[in-house]
Amino acid sequence: MSSTPRKILVTSALPYANGSIHLGHMLEYIQTDIWVRFQKLRGHQCTYVCADDAHGTAIMLKAEQQEITPEALIAAVSEEHQTDFGRFSIGFDNYYSTHSPENRELAELIYTRCKEAGHIAQRTITQAYDPEKELFLADRFIKGTCPKCKADDQYGDNCEACGATYSPADLINPRSAISGATPVNRDSTHFFFKLPDFTAMLKEWTRSGTLQDEIANKLSEWLDGGLHEWDISRDAPYFGFEIPGEPGKYFYVWLDAPIGYMASFKNLCARNAELDFDQYWQQGSDAELYHFIGKDIINFHALFWPAMLSCAGFRTPTAVHAHGFLTVNGTKMSKSRGTFIKASTYLEHLDPDYLRYYFAAKLNSRVEDLDLNLDDFVQRVNADLVGKVVNIASRSAGFITKKFDGVLAAEISEPELIGRFTTASTEIAACFEQREFGRAIKLVMRLADEANEYIHAKEPWVLAKQEGKEREVQAICSTGINLFRILMIYLKPVLPAMTERAEAFLQETLDWASLANYRCGNQIAKFKPLLTRVEQDKVTAMIEASKEVLAAESTKPAEPAPADPIADTINYDEFAKVDLRIARIVKADHVKGADKLLQLTLDIGTGQPRTVFAGIKSAYAPEQLEGKLTVMVANLAPRKMKFGLSEGMVLAAGPGGDELWILEPHAGAQPGMRVM
Ligand code: 2FM
Ligand code: ZN
Repeated sequence: MSSTPRKILVTSALPYANGSIHLGHMLEYIQTDIWVRFQKLRGHQCTYVCADDAHGTAIMLKAEQQEITPEALIAAVSEEHQTDFGRFSIGFDNYYSTHSPENRELAELIYTRCKEAGHIAQRTITQAYDPEKELFLADRFIKGTCPKCKADDQYGDNCEACGATYSPADLINPRSAISGATPVNRDSTHFFFKLPDFTAMLKEWTRSGTLQDEIANKLSEWLDGGLHEWDISRDAPYFGFEIPGEPGKYFYVWLDAPIGYMASFKNLCARNAELDFDQYWQQGSDAELYHFIGKDIINFHALFWPAMLSCAGFRTPTAVHAHGFLTVNGTKMSKSRGTFIKASTYLEHLDPDYLRYYFAAKLNSRVEDLDLNLDDFVQRVNADLVGKVVNIASRSAGFITKKFDGVLAAEISEPELIGRFTTASTEIAACFEQREFGRAIKLVMRLADEANEYIHAKEPWVLAKQEGKEREVQAICSTGINLFRILMIYLKPVLPAMTERAEAFLQETLDWASLANYRCGNQIAKFKPLLTRVEQDKVTAMIEASKEVLAAESTKPAEPAPADPIADTINYDEFAKVDLRIARIVKADHVKGADKLLQLTLDIGTGQPRTVFAGIKSAYAPEQLEGKLTVMVANLAPRKMKFGLSEGMVLAAGPGGDELWILEPHAGAQPGMRVM
């Protein structure tokens, strides 16, 4: 390892203070935590800070709904988040909040410096306004009827039923999702950060080894296409920091969120004499600064953030490390399938080290999505950790305890074998450093195989029954324990809780620098199981519990129900015109270029298959639908859609997103039967 310790500051994205942590979040915190633990294990001064992202309209409204203050809401959520993180061994050096005095001070400072340097613009914009609730409405707070397919209850920017995109002004019967009132247009002065002023600086910064190639390429397109000024203000009422000198105007949550990284570090510096805020944040600092983020928030971290920092006279990040999304069993996490798993639900059923290991085994440095395949998860954790790593120790420990009072052999009997294990450290360290955790794990498991083969070939259990072979048995088992010890040093960043148990067993604190300090003549403790097998029924129980959590949550009243939800009636004749038929889904396919649609081929008993484009992709994978019976509107006039002709409509219920269920008839129904 390098001789001078590096000064490294690391962050993960700040979770919003209005919801629970789920496994999608955990992918990022586990990735970051492994990297941080690795740096610390190598003797560097590495500091990991985070905070709750506490501002914005969503948090303000949620607090209102719960009839508490935003401060009370964010305090409660912070506690919940920190409990989950702690149980997953996420070792933050500081966990703070963006609603803090340090953050207010830094946000004001950065804004003021940008303003003084002439990089803040001010102009009037027109926006949708809720006259009842008296607030401006972001697109996602406006709902209405889709101008294309006339589906009701669609968001202001896109239709979940037909996939159309549009602006909120195009919606038919637009209404505020908050009060139900019809929005009106209203003017207001907004403040903008003049991002285009930083085009040259960003072109240079994004190409200086700060970003993964795929990200740098994407940003190049944006940079070449021309940047836009960034709207950094929001009008009252807003939960956030008021802009200095601009009463009633607040910093947009995304302005002070990344400043929250600095604020959390500053808050830590105040109680840690070894850390100096300016040394880390001043221009030209020799400290390294890394942000781990998801691929959806790249523009905030690789455009706005470095531009603002440089504008305000601070250093820019050394690198931004983006990762892909988590899928479960091959598809987007889904509440209805029970694969939208909260961290706390996971923890009720499974050991956090299992997930840390599984993520590590599949993580690399690219921006790829990672699939948590639950069968593979069970198999991999059991085969690798229990079957290989723990097995080395458990096979060796018994003899040492029983026959040698827990004392290891005085000398190393297999220097070459052990030497190979320690030599691998260079390559394994390089993998961790480059965030190629999967490759590191592969190397470690290859060594674990070697260790097991060694013990298997030597058969200490056979020798133990023979007279005069005691020393040999002790030598073999001591080698086994030493090999296990080296593997646990490599795995320490990944498996903090299991490592603690291994350290108690080895009676030593494991450290990268002491890799080659083999244990000779040392005492070990009595072996206790270091990790139990993952049980399939626990995984099943977790999925079931996730479905229950969803059911419990969806019974909470989210918005006051309108007085009479079914206001418009139709007469019987009108109803009788609708020809509803039982249909069998013979085929379901993805539609190239469509985010929301699946193409269904339906058998309705006429011998003439029907093609229907259904906006149910958010809830179903094609293979889940094939063979199912459902109900379709068979006499709907065919509609020409962007992707082809849709000859009818299938019926589904639910609020949307992954909470959408197609109607399925009971057994006995046959394709073509009329539904009445
Ligand atoms: O996307 C999110 O969940 C944001 N709360 C992340 C903020 S990261 C940083 F900029 F604060
Ligand atoms: Zn539509």
